[in-house]
Amino acid sequence: AKVAVLLSGTGTNMAALLYASRFDDSPYEIVLVASNDPDAEGLALARDENVPTFALAHRGMDRTEHDAAMDAAIRESGAQYIALAGYMRILGAEIVSRWEGRLLNIHPSLLPKYKGLDTHARALEAGDATHGCSVHLVTPELDDGPVLGQLEIAIRSEDTPETLAARVKFAEHQLYPRVLGRYVGRCYDPDWLLQRVRELAL
Ligand code: GRF
Repeated sequence: AKVAVLLSGTGTNMAALLYASRFDDSPYEIVLVASNDPDAEGLALARDENVPTFALAHRGMDRTEHDAAMDAAIRESGAQYIALAGYMRILGAEIVSRWEGRLLNIHPSLLPKYKGLDTHARALEAGDATHGCSVHLVTPELDDGPVLGQLEIAIRSEDTPETLAARVKFAEHQLYPRVLGRYVGRCYDPDWLLQRVRELAL
């Protein structure tokens, strides 16, 4: 499957997705890395890794117009799925519904806990024993779509938001390639196929 990754920042999750895609049994390849920030570090990394890139600053554009331009570049790339990886711009309803079921995001919490920002500080303040990350399908509601996979990690007594965030990142890098691969590769998974056939027969 062909995947476009959208990012706004350092792109460590994009790197995890890209490097995992280099195993010859990977069910997906990254065909485009796109950003709303032409100076995003992740975009420069993608360029150095010879992945096609696209950048369009959102300043001065309204959301629908910017989404439409991103969408056009994504379709041009031949991508069948979009993986958001630290894309710090909320996508409008139009692009979200156009990619329904084919638009994934990674969020640094065990959803449905801690939607939105500052998830690490919030988990620490709440005195939680564990924290983690989730990959979910994107719906118009922020961080609200069906969860496809989660990875739970221990919170340590000496954790600060920074140390916790760093460990959650390790977990994210394990989780995202695995869940994306499983999700886009499901059509070739005999168990998954059998399950769908059974459902259809009912
Ligand atoms: C990650 O923590 C991800 O969960 C969130 O944005 C961050 C992106 O980090 N959505 P990076 O640019 O992949 O390092």
